[in-house]
Amino acid sequence: MSKTISVCIPKGGVGKTTTAVNLSASLAVAEKKTLLVDVDPFGASAIALGFTPDKIKASLSEIFAFTHSIKSAIHRTELEYLDFVPSNIYSINVHDKFIKFAENRLILKNALREIEYYYDFIIIDCPPLLKGISTNALVASDSILIPIRSGHFSLEAVDRLFSYFEWIKEIANPKLEIEGIIMTMYEKDSKVTKISERELKLKYSKYLLNTVIPNTSLLNESTFYGKPLCLYKINSEGAAAYLELAGEILKNNYKKENILT
Ligand SMILES: Nc1ncnc2c1ncn2[C@@H]1O[C@H](COP(=O)(O)OP(=O)(O)OP(=O)(O)O)[C@@H](O)[C@H]1O
Ligand SMILES: [Mg+2]
Repeated sequence: MSKTISVCIPKGGVGKTTTAVNLSASLAVAEKKTLLVDVDPFGASAIALGFTPDKIKASLSEIFAFTHSIKSAIHRTELEYLDFVPSNIYSINVHDKFIKFAENRLILKNALREIEYYYDFIIIDCPPLLKGISTNALVASDSILIPIRSGHFSLEAVDRLFSYFEWIKEIANPKLEIEGIIMTMYEKDSKVTKISERELKLKYSKYLLNTVIPNTSLLNESTFYGKPLCLYKINSEGAAAYLELAGEILKNNYKKENILT
């Protein structure tokens, strides 16, 4: 059975795209058939995977306009087990139409339904806003993975996400769950990291994942080369952390499946 996870929080620059791309790649390394879907009109996931506009044959904007099927917008990547659907919103006109189509909250869920049987995991990279396309993503998802930038985090953004989560559960997707909170750009010896961790533990301890993603410029550098870190420097601390995150998510889901069966 396929599991769809949205990487989402209403805060910019906290590592959503980096987490969506590197988690997807790490699941693919673990031979889990994975589809990364970029729903952020900014299109940063495509850049991180080395897709220039000329390499994109169809994208989410055409799927939403019903001119292309989702199958025709699936792109193979350097990793055998990882596929990618880009957003590719390259003009204001396309962007406006995309936002308009996204008013249909089920449009993404219906599109994914056609292909979900083919994947173990579908990972969705969300924009830093809790409306429009993020609503589509959460309606289409089984769970939310929340990246939090340690040291610069805002409890207010986490609180807003949790209220939104409750609202989506109530109006459209009762089975939506929290996959977990992952601390990104983690600096072990920094005082602000310790303070943020303590604050998070006070309110959200049961959601905090054991894995932490270190602050490492290699995660930024690999984006310039259009590669997830495991294909750029597999023996780095950052690549190991995302592989560990994939392992933790696999383990948690394996446990849940066992409880259910
Ligand atoms: N663990 C990390 N260590 C160091 N730099 C990182 C780390 N994770 C992400 N970055 C860098 O931080 C910046 C923001 O990351 P990213 O684009 O993943 O955030 P985002 O939440 O998707 O942002 P946006 O809200 O704009 O979509 C990027 O330059 C990225 O390379
Ligand atoms: Mg992003």
